[in-house]
Amino acid sequence: MIQVKNLTKIYKTTVKGSSFFSDLFNRKYKEVVALDKVSFEIAGNELVGFIGPNGAGKTTTLKILAGILYPTSGQVNVLDYFPFDKKRSFLKQIAFVMGQRNQLLWDLPALDTFQLNKEIYEVSDDRYHQIVDELTSLLNAENLVEKPVKTLSLGERMKMELIATLIHNPKLIFFDEPTIGLDLFSQEIIREFIKKYQKQYRATIMLTSHYMEDVKRLAKRIIVINKGKILYDGNLKEIVQKYSSTKLVTVVLESKIDQIKLSSIGNIISYVFPKVSYKIDRHLIPEKIDLINRLLPYMDLTIEEEPIEEIIKKLFSGKK
Ligand SMILES: Nc1ncnc2c1ncn2[C@@H]1O[C@H](COP(=O)(O)OP(=O)(O)O)[C@@H](O)[C@H]1O
Ligand SMILES: [Mg+2]
Repeated sequence: MIQVKNLTKIYKTTVKGSSFFSDLFNRKYKEVVALDKVSFEIAGNELVGFIGPNGAGKTTTLKILAGILYPTSGQVNVLDYFPFDKKRSFLKQIAFVMGQRNQLLWDLPALDTFQLNKEIYEVSDDRYHQIVDELTSLLNAENLVEKPVKTLSLGERMKMELIATLIHNPKLIFFDEPTIGLDLFSQEIIREFIKKYQKQYRATIMLTSHYMEDVKRLAKRIIVINKGKILYDGNLKEIVQKYSSTKLVTVVLESKIDQIKLSSIGNIISYVFPKVSYKIDRHLIPEKIDLINRLLPYMDLTIEEEPIEEIIKKLFSGKK
């Protein structure tokens, strides 16, 4: 559905000179390499998390895929189109959803905006009514569509925004930071909706977010980008295997144990009786557990993976 090869995007910006004349005659350009030979493919019916720190190139990538920006070089193929050609038949199949966008007509019910988008996207009457019914029920929003938008709460308005953006039932959706700046409750509404929508319509979704929670809950596959380069593309679970060298072992002690004895096991992360936690190398786990069994009287023992957030932070910083 999406094929990207050696995609490069360089932004050229003018740098202000010291005076009006130097600006005019000696214009200086600064080049920002936003994407540097990015390649990946996305098949149909997939939900891919696209993550990276601020300025990594996420929005630039999505804008190129949606036909909003022209690439500097490389190949881009989306649904067998070159996105920037902006063919109507292409635009009718995609949607670009940004967080905190406002397209709703303020004084009117959301239904009026839906109707407007219906006309823009040339959705048939039957299809339109079906989609509005399905999406409102997916969002528990049947009673909201006829109220003036200005009387709705933020969370309710967001639901209406989502319906308005998806009224043409696109099969490929780019969500760019859909939950940014929202309270936890509203974030949850969006997350649940994306999940259900994807399932119900078998849509292909690419989602950027810097909330790991979004990605963990929604995506099986992640593409990690930093400074315009892809650092990782694969299963979210496998990133843990690949990049995490340690596990967290927590022991709930039966009785107080001498610090020296505790330290003889390994690197203590925290100790507040009765709980002691160790950071232990993945490959040393069996022998350390064996040691704990022999040296420490305990009531409980748990072994946890390093949090994905931590692993990805390490990925960004180039450390392993
Ligand atoms: N219109 C623009 N002009 C110049 N530089 C830009 C423009 N848009 C983005 N950039 C730069 O390109 C890089 C990637 O930006 P962006 O794709 O927005 O990153 P992200 O969405 O991952 O935060 C950043 O260094 C950013 O400053
Ligand atoms: Mg962005």
